Order: sequence, then C-alpha cells, then structure tokens
Amino acid sequence: MGYTRISDANEITQEYIDSILVEARYIDSVIADTTVSFFGKHYAMPVMTPAFSHLGAYNGREKTGLEEYSLAAKECGILNFCGMMENDMFQKIIDTGADTVRIVKPYADHGKILDQMQFAEAAGAVAIGMDIDHIFGEKGADIVVGEEMAPQTSEMLQSYVELTKLPFVVKGVLSVTDALKCAKIGAKAIIVSHHHGRIPYAVPPLMVLPEIKEALGDSDVQIIVDCGIASGVDVFKALALGADAAAVGRSMLPSLEKDGTEGAAGFLRSVGNELRYMMSCCGFAAVTDIDDSVLYI
Ligand SMILES: Cc1cc2nc3c(=O)[nH]c(=O)nc-3n(C[C@H](O)[C@H](O)[C@H](O)COP(=O)(O)O)c2cc1C
Repeated sequence: MGYTRISDANEITQEYIDSILVEARYIDSVIADTTVSFFGKHYAMPVMTPAFSHLGAYNGREKTGLEEYSLAAKECGILNFCGMMENDMFQKIIDTGADTVRIVKPYADHGKILDQMQFAEAAGAVAIGMDIDHIFGEKGADIVVGEEMAPQTSEMLQSYVELTKLPFVVKGVLSVTDALKCAKIGAKAIIVSHHHGRIPYAVPPLMVLPEIKEALGDSDVQIIVDCGIASGVDVFKALALGADAAAVGRSMLPSLEKDGTEGAAGFLRSVGNELRYMMSCCGFAAVTDIDDSVLYI
C-alpha cells in the first residue's frame, strides 16, 4: 500500500486540534464568565471574527458578507476584524458600529499602506495591523487581486507602530522568532496563524503557541490565534495553550451565507456558549484562569 503525503496545513492543523483531549473538574466549579479585555475595552467573549475580504452580497441581500458579519460581531459584543479592502468599504464596516481591527495588506505601494492606516485611524478603528504572511508567492512577491505585495522589515513594521496612536497587530506570526520581533517593535497583539494554509506543512498554530507564549513572557503583547477554529472547544484549547482569544474563520461562512447577520451571530453565540460550557466543566471560572493542566496532548 502506498503512503499518501499530506502537505495541506489546514488538514494537519485540524488533526492536531482534534488530537488534544480534555479532562473534567466538576466539584467546586461554577458557571464560567467568558468576558475579556482587549486594547483596554471589554468584550463578551474571547471569540473574534476573521480578517476577511472580498465577500460580496449573498443570496441577493443588500449588504455584503463583510458588513453582515461585522453587524453580527456588534450584536454579540465581540471584537471584529477585516482584511484587504479599499477605504470606502472599510468606512461601511465602521458604519456598522462594530469595534473593528483593520488588517492592511503588505502592499508594495508603501503610500497605500500609510493611506489605509491613516484612514482607518481617522474613521474609528480600534486597532490596525498587517498580515505579514501574505508577502511571497511562488514567482516572487505575491500579486493579490492585481496588487503587488512586498517584503516587510522590522524597521518598516516599527514605522507603522509609530505612525498610529492605535494598538498595532501583526497577523501571521508562526514562530518564536517573529513573535519576539513583534514584541521588540512595539506591537500590542499578534495573530498566530498560517492564513488558512499559505505554506505547506505549516506547524499548527496551537502547536507553536505554547513556545510563543513562553517566549513573550510577561510582555504586554496579547495573543490571538486562528486557523481551523470552528467551535467553543477549539477556542478553549487555544486559550489553554496560551492564547488570549481565538478567531473563527471559514467555519463561520455557511451560517453567514445562509442567514446573514443572524446566521453569523447565531454561530458566534454557539461558539461562545460552548466555550462557557467547557470552562465550567473544567473548573475555570474566568478566561484568565484557563491553563493547560486539563489537556492531554
Ligand atoms: C474569503 C477570505 C478572505 C480572507 N481575506 C483576508 C485578508 O484580506 N487579510 C487577512 O489577513 N486574512 C484574510 N483571510 C484569512 C483569514 O483572516 C484567516 O486567517 C483564515 O481564514 C483562518 O483559517 P480558517 O479559515 O481555516 O479558520 C481570508 C480568508 C478567507 C476565507
């Protein structure tokens, strides 16, 4: 029988998440509180929306999927994210009233980076950031929807931190090396992610997370994780391994596509409810209490 190689990081990540088991601790446990603080603001749960882009209007509805899930984030009282888009689309997201983190692309056009960051700050973004894992393509720099990307140095990232009064978020950290650079340049949060499998054999974010957490020590960099997060148990495992929050991804799309804001809100609430259930069953009253002593890896 031939051996089939599995290089797809999404599949590897899913298998890793599913291989982690959890013990229960019922005695003396209470109904858990899922509230958290991020960037000095309070949110209902450590579950976040993904930094998505390019979602049109589904099923003939008026608003784009991006606006619909942003409204869902507001309804659920959670931190919202968005990705590659022009400023007019970002304004529409801000108009939903959701507290939103604007993730700007690593464009080769440096002026465009600065323009989008400055626009986001003026429009009322809660934080701004960049997905540093979307720079390279197989032929050199990647071209994303006709726009060329470019390598980003520590100095460039530091200049973005200094450009804005807002917290700066680096998305696409998948090593201790990059995490330490993010701390050094003054980033306030990182998203540990392989951007739904941009490199083959990418280490699952939850696997590298404990090393990153330890390396960051008592720095004030908050850690968000994404990739393959589809349930409250997945979020619970991420928190136990050192994350401060987790973002759902493509797992949200079927509910969003089918029922718009209500669908996405229902999905996000069910993730939060399952997280509360897991915390309660494992004896963690608050999000900051959760640790890896209940995990079997
Ligand atoms: C339709 C779509 C658009 C996306 N656009 C962006 C983007 O513009 N910027 C970004 O940082 N990530 C983007 N992502 C990646 C997500 O933010 C996230 O990292 C990824 O989907 C997580 O993996 P998962 O879907 O397996 O959970 C996009 C993902 C999808 C599916």
